[in-house]
Amino acid sequence: MVNIQAQGKIISCARGANLRQVLLKNGVNLYNSNASMINCRGIGTCGTCAVVIEGEVSEAQWREKARLFVPPHSPDSDQRLSCHVKVLGDIKVTKYNGFWGQGSKTVWTPES
Ligand code: FES
Repeated sequence: MVNIQAQGKIISCARGANLRQVLLKNGVNLYNSNASMINCRGIGTCGTCAVVIEGEVSEAQWREKARLFVPPHSPDSDQRLSCHVKVLGDIKVTKYNGFWGQGSKTVWTPES
């Protein structure tokens, strides 16, 4: 088991679990504003599940990299698409503002 710290919660999950699924199942507000209703449900095309992660997770594959290359995301940012992330160790997750989570202000942090 590994631990995810997000929005003031500490969530245990199996190593290799899908980050988006674990966060949603545990009531973390993964999406900003209407993105909670208008999203691709984890296919990797909308880009609204973006978060910044500290800790060990899977490497980004081509689909995730392709979406993060398209504005308003940037290939230079630290964002990851939670729907394409496998949790491999204890991690801390931060969500930023903007419809796609692409902003520079935090919406929530690992601690709150
Ligand atoms: S839910 Fe759409 S890219 Fe992750």
